[in-house]
Amino acid sequence: MKLGIIGVGHLAASILTGLTRAGWSVGDICLSPRGQAPDLARQHGYVLATDNAELVQRCDLVLLAVRPADAPAAVRGLNWREGQVLLSACAGVSRAALADAAPAQIVRIMPITASELGASPTLIFPPTKAAEDFVTALGTAIELDSEDQFNAATISAAVYGWAQQLIIDGAEWSIAQGLAPDTARQLAAQTFVAAGRMQAEQDAPMRDILSSLCTPGGITQAGLDRLTSQGVSDAWRGTYDAILARLRQP
Ligand SMILES: NC(=O)c1ccc[n+]([C@@H]2O[C@H](COP(=O)([O-])OP(=O)(O)OC[C@H]3O[C@@H](n4cnc5c(N)ncnc54)[C@H](OP(=O)(O)O)[C@@H]3O)[C@@H](O)[C@H]2O)c1
Repeated sequence: MKLGIIGVGHLAASILTGLTRAGWSVGDICLSPRGQAPDLARQHGYVLATDNAELVQRCDLVLLAVRPADAPAAVRGLNWREGQVLLSACAGVSRAALADAAPAQIVRIMPITASELGASPTLIFPPTKAAEDFVTALGTAIELDSEDQFNAATISAAVYGWAQQLIIDGAEWSIAQGLAPDTARQLAAQTFVAAGRMQAEQDAPMRDILSSLCTPGGITQAGLDRLTSQGVSDAWRGTYDAILARLRQP
């Protein structure tokens, strides 16, 4: 079987939606029988394993998406085969911590729930051919060169939430100015999509793309000056540092 999933909760449910969207067949996916797995198997026809040992026996690629504290125990004592790939999405769980429990090829990934739209920038370390189809079905692969880089890049999974807070703030402000809620929501969200796409898809240096928007004396520049004078950039950078320090705690 193509893929087995141990830990069928919120993240795995988004991933399953993304895989279906990308054309993966439900018959190629085997689920460990806890969490949302029985319901999803009943509704959509995924194969339900009797236990994690059977799942590891049946699948070449195994995704681990249990809560971090449950990770080593969930993969210990299963009959791993040489060359079998264990993809761990568990935030902050090192490859070494899993290698002790599972003698497989251990690859860390960090997808986000935009997987269900095929729009997840998914971190991967080390880049692994056997995982390519899976990661690209969820969006774009972001390959890292070391586990230390992977840990730093993991911040992006939190930025995904912080960006949503900014979108909500903007939408709520617009609603307070009288815009219809749906209009305010689409405007706030699509503006962030547009900003992200310009930075992702244009070749010009990032700061040049921004500068091209900042007419001297115009509203964009005036707003940036105000945000800077109020310490907003410093607060963002400080928050990145603080959350990375937390991720690096043993
Ligand atoms: N949520 C996100 O957006 C997101 C994004 C990136 C990475 N992650 C990572 O993904 C992991 C899962 O997060 P989540 O939000 O999806 O958590 P969740 O909703 O709590 O799901 C975890 C699932 O794992 C199951 N489970 C626990 N131990 C198990 C075992 N030994 N065998 C089989 N299943 C087991 C739980 O089943 P029971 O209900 O029966 O306990 C639960 O359904 C975390 O490590 C997190 O760091 C999450």
